[in-house]
Amino acid sequence: MKLKTENEIAAMREAGKAAAASLIAMREAIVPGETTTLQLDEIAGETLAKYGAKAALNGYKPPFSKVPYLHNTCISVNDEIIHGVPRRGYVLHDGDIVGLDLVASVDGWCADSAITVPVGSVSDKAKRLLTVTREALHKGIAQAKAGNHMGDVGSAIQRFAEQQRCGIAEDLVGHGVGVSVHEPGLDVPNRGRAGQGVRLLLGMTFAIEPMLALGKGVTLQKNNDPWTVWTKDHTLAAHFEHTVAITENGPLILTLPAKD
Ligand code: MF3
Ligand code: CO
Repeated sequence: MKLKTENEIAAMREAGKAAAASLIAMREAIVPGETTTLQLDEIAGETLAKYGAKAALNGYKPPFSKVPYLHNTCISVNDEIIHGVPRRGYVLHDGDIVGLDLVASVDGWCADSAITVPVGSVSDKAKRLLTVTREALHKGIAQAKAGNHMGDVGSAIQRFAEQQRCGIAEDLVGHGVGVSVHEPGLDVPNRGRAGQGVRLLLGMTFAIEPMLALGKGVTLQKNNDPWTVWTKDHTLAAHFEHTVAITENGPLILTLPAKD
């Protein structure tokens, strides 16, 4: 991956603010028993536009697909781990957990972020999964500093997930982010060994995205849907994601909300 300059990181931060605002707008729009996942996708499109950002996923053809993606966001409900497709026919219900994932771009610079939120009141198990997955993300981020290795990030996530008895979604990893949604040449695994893997350098920008499940984390895809990834055992899954930059002051989270 090409290392980013301070100006390029600043441009990605602008995209990150738009991404954060859009996730918040989506979360706040949810009315249990009323809101469809397609409505949330539309709200994301409107919020991104308000912030002068584009929905980088709309029309984007990821490396793992033959066809482009045609929505602003990925929305993954309950046992859907990632890449769920927004649907007019799915009304969010009290007790669901819903993963909201989007990429904002400003002047071509991308920032990728995801949160998983409860719909109405959810089970204690679901609450715990959300808390553990969010905390796993921050354990990973804390290791994203120059001189460390990618294995430090993965091992921090893995150790915490295992300690908390959550399954790590197999084969799904974070990635370089910048001029494109997925910058080639940099994987960000949710497993690893401390001190192993690529050395982290100033100016690297990548998405850290733990995807954890209440079960084992074995994944399932279906023939009639090229996008959605489910848990094979149909246990609940959660996904939290930030885009971070490696800076002289340590990890800089580019997808936090703007401070006003
Ligand atoms: N945030 C998603 C990811 O990291 C972006 C790709 S969604 C796609 O995988 F379905 F459009 F590819
Ligand atoms: Co991502």
